[in-house]
Amino acid sequence: MIPVVDLRAEYELVKAEIDAAVRRVLDSGWYILGQEVAAFETEFADWCGVSGAVGVGNGTDALHIALRACGVRAGDEVITVAHTAVATAAAIALTGATPVFVDIDPATYTLDPARLAEAITPRTKAVIPVHLYGHPADLDGILPIAQKAGLRVIEDCAQAHGAEWQGQRVGSFGDLACFSFYPTKNLGALGDGGAVAGNDPALLERVRLLREYGWKPENRYVSEIEGMNSRLDEMQAAILRVKLAHLDGWNEHRRGLAEIYATHLPASVVKPVARPGCRHVYHLYVVRSPDRDSLREKLRAAGVATGIHYPVPVHQQAAYRHLPRVSLPVTEKVAGEILSLPMHSTLTAGQIEQVCAAFS
Ligand SMILES: Cc1ncc(COP(=O)(O)O)c(C=O)c1O
Repeated sequence: MIPVVDLRAEYELVKAEIDAAVRRVLDSGWYILGQEVAAFETEFADWCGVSGAVGVGNGTDALHIALRACGVRAGDEVITVAHTAVATAAAIALTGATPVFVDIDPATYTLDPARLAEAITPRTKAVIPVHLYGHPADLDGILPIAQKAGLRVIEDCAQAHGAEWQGQRVGSFGDLACFSFYPTKNLGALGDGGAVAGNDPALLERVRLLREYGWKPENRYVSEIEGMNSRLDEMQAAILRVKLAHLDGWNEHRRGLAEIYATHLPASVVKPVARPGCRHVYHLYVVRSPDRDSLREKLRAAGVATGIHYPVPVHQQAAYRHLPRVSLPVTEKVAGEILSLPMHSTLTAGQIEQVCAAFS
């Protein structure tokens, strides 16, 4: 079977470096919030082109903490999309605020700015554009609307490490930006991990306090604000430092694979697009077909694994049915048609040709 992702193969690529990094942490005797996390935070912020980053436990916590740092609380509304990992909505709900879902652009599957303005109410505090599948949301459309309405913008970059909007990396546009290092991500730990990045020192300081009970590192056990415990650990930080050094190359590899898909896939499926001025990093390679389920079965029979990201939009999930009902025609249509083909850092051109051959 050609898998959608291959975590073991990526580990094998950099095994010697990762094993040495893990050994370094084991031998250090320091396992939480030490030199590795501090170094990773600096290296990752530099890589993103922002002034700072704070390592946290996972991407969901990154979003939750970023929202809280921006002052979002019970009674507020936060606008986002329903075509995303449920984590985006879960993080909003964790603050006590209400997620308000708007529809997406059918070409890039990201928040449609035309739908944003009409969803804003006096209770709206923030908007979370999700850079889904590795393609940036329409920031030129979203940012002016948010600014005019006085909304905080928190970028969900969990699927878009290194994606660019008009030559600038995502994560550097909003008030804060949130990353996941879940193992399957373009930059994946060997466990859970996440980060909040940004350019506003005051907001980043608040994120740092929220990450660990409201403590300042130099004043432990003294809570300045009500915080939580969501720390990136030293082992994951050391592993992420190794992988970060390879990330540009891996993203280029994904982009090369996407080009091969684009030339070999049949015209009967809708292929991903990259908007002019955007750099897509193909976290997932998602095609669309009205016959998605039979196509999926055919590929499976030919030895090609596929995924669906995501089969049930968040507004239609049982857990979120208590929210005011919304109709999201584009979201609902694409959920029935999308199919994620194999895409990962160690996939080969030959395997892609095999995947494409399985369509005929
Ligand atoms: C778009 C999006 N947002 C948020 C998250 C949450 O990240 P994590 O799984 O690290 O909590 C994910 C990953 O699952 C994601 O894909």
